[in-house]
Amino acid sequence: MMRFENKVAIVTGGGDGIGYGITERLSSEGANVMVVDFNSEIGSQSVNEIDSKNPGNVRLTVGDVSQPKTSLDAVKNTLDTWGKIDILVNNAGIGGINGNIWELDVEELDRVYQINLRGVFLFCQAVIPHMVDNNFGRIVNMASTAGKEGNPRMVPYSSTKAAVIALTKSVGKELAATNVLVNCVTPAVVQTKLLEEFTPEQIKYMTDKIPMGRTGEIKEIAALVSWLCSEECSFSTGAAYDASGGRATY
Ligand SMILES: NC(=O)c1ccc[n+]([C@@H]2O[C@H](COP(=O)([O-])OP(=O)(O)OC[C@H]3O[C@@H](n4cnc5c(N)ncnc54)[C@H](O)[C@@H]3O)[C@@H](O)[C@H]2O)c1
Repeated sequence: MMRFENKVAIVTGGGDGIGYGITERLSSEGANVMVVDFNSEIGSQSVNEIDSKNPGNVRLTVGDVSQPKTSLDAVKNTLDTWGKIDILVNNAGIGGINGNIWELDVEELDRVYQINLRGVFLFCQAVIPHMVDNNFGRIVNMASTAGKEGNPRMVPYSSTKAAVIALTKSVGKELAATNVLVNCVTPAVVQTKLLEEFTPEQIKYMTDKIPMGRTGEIKEIAALVSWLCSEECSFSTGAAYDASGGRATY
């Protein structure tokens, strides 16, 4: 029996990058996956690609995770299609503009906050009651090493990712007596389109700090997320898991 046979997942930002890799991995292990992405073109292409070659079915809900309607639509579409929700991966996120805090407009903080934190909050709110009723749930939030260490010239990104870590710890404790476990992953640099938002100097700063001397691969993050989504992960909640090539020191 495959690890995620009869399991149903929602993966936000599953159309590209790390979210694509997570969707592919969960689906290859038998999960049915509802991808949520605001890019309908990339989202449909990715969903069709993964759906055609894996045992688990994959479907798409188009929407911006920062809007309450998107989480409600995703939950409705998932329940209408498969009748339950076992796994939520809050992966959608943006990098934002690089610059010192005194050089950035406050609207840039608002923009990054809306997607990186508000989106995670809304999806947790929409999904958790169903998981509690079902007496099973695994939630994985995508944070970042930037949220632990605070990268210079990345205040909106670093601070929203720190908030995702704290949200994970709080919600993990709120649900600790249930079988709904909430953890987050804190990757260092992984080669995806998100890096196109950053300057070459910023990427060099982050990559030079990785003791393994290389960037992470999407499949390495997907493997960790897959374990956190599984029943084998049973005594961990409210925790932050590194995938940083040795960069993280706590
Ligand atoms: N790439 C890295 O180096 C790195 C490192 C640490 C953490 N992360 C985190 O991993 C997650 C995925 O990043 P990635 O590198 O794969 O990015 P990416 O840009 O390659 O892919 C992000 C996906 O999310 C979707 N998306 C973005 N904003 C959305 C929104 N508001 N609503 C719905 N969908 C949205 C995009 O359309 C895209 O499909 C992010 O949360 C990011 O902060 C990335």
